[in-house]
Amino acid sequence: MKKTYRIGVIPGDGTGPEVVREGLKVLEAVAAKVGFSYETIVYPFGGEHYKKTGETLPDSALEEFKKLDALYLGAIGHPDVKPGILEQGILLRIRFGLDQYVNLRPVKLYPGVWTPIKDKGPEDIDFVVVRENTEGLYVGAGGFLRKGTPDEVAIQVSINTRKGVERCIRFAFEYARKRNKKKKVTLCGKTNVLTYAFDLWERVFYEVAREYPDVQTDYAHVDATTMWMVKNPEWFDVIVTDNMFGDIITDLGAMIQGGMGIAAGGNINPQGVSMFEPIGGSAPKYTGMNVINPLAAILAMQMLLDTIGEHEAASRVENAVIQALQSGKIKSMSAGKMGLTTQEVGDLVASLV
Ligand code: IPM
Ligand code: MN
Repeated sequence: MKKTYRIGVIPGDGTGPEVVREGLKVLEAVAAKVGFSYETIVYPFGGEHYKKTGETLPDSALEEFKKLDALYLGAIGHPDVKPGILEQGILLRIRFGLDQYVNLRPVKLYPGVWTPIKDKGPEDIDFVVVRENTEGLYVGAGGFLRKGTPDEVAIQVSINTRKGVERCIRFAFEYARKRNKKKKVTLCGKTNVLTYAFDLWERVFYEVAREYPDVQTDYAHVDATTMWMVKNPEWFDVIVTDNMFGDIITDLGAMIQGGMGIAAGGNINPQGVSMFEPIGGSAPKYTGMNVINPLAAILAMQMLLDTIGEHEAASRVENAVIQALQSGKIKSMSAGKMGLTTQEVGDLVASLV
């Protein structure tokens, strides 16, 4: 009997539901074309649900997620909810709870998309960031001492485990092989200041590299990485880095590939359940206006399809996006400036798969 994929969907907050709708529209079109079946299970978690029920993400949901083939997320973040509650209670909880130890973020400039980097084109901007996704400064280790007094101390600890660093670095080398482009992995760190954490990262990096003699290695400090991403983005193939640095450099990456409207990412557990999302947030300013760019969400769906093994469907989706971009019908990647509505962009891509 043929497999029916079970895909959990968390539309979430703000423009999340609008972009998820278009991603699911493209999924429906490509599933019909390629001939696989799936069911979606929609979950209500997000800011509205929290305001109504006081619940972020129940343990039972996390257990249910473990039985899915993949998760598809719109956006988390609500203007009425104190920053941190939803991000930690839902997004980070899923990443950690499902042990999605890699945040895979392609930085790829498609033909026809404007980049702010002058004189660089699609042949120059095509790399991926492998961001460690379960450790570092994100674990919430730390505390206050004498809070609210002039003698206050705030401590935030970066946790880097040998196993956590190694599995992330290994993923990066495997990915460089699989990508089969420059076959180069760059470690992005700060060995000159973070002399404990990045000492471990650097040692593990060169140790793992010995198992991949066909893959080149390189190292750049994080500050220099941001410089090269603007000046010579063509030097990169796969960048591996910790959670915090990965968060920062992938927003820069999103900008050079054309903006948040087109930047997708996957939270990957190679042995478990992965979750795919557009990198941009909930964009409260544009909510409900049918002007947000759904391409990031559609490309997140492409990554989802690739990860569950539907490679033909994934490449059809990517090609449909490329054709949509080359059609000249989408005037800009920015919300409100596309010249088409959110739904029209979804329709266009769906018609091209
Ligand atoms: C991202 C976001 C999250 C992060 C926030 C919302 C917690 O910025 O996915 O990059 O820092 O990981
Ligand atoms: Mn971020």
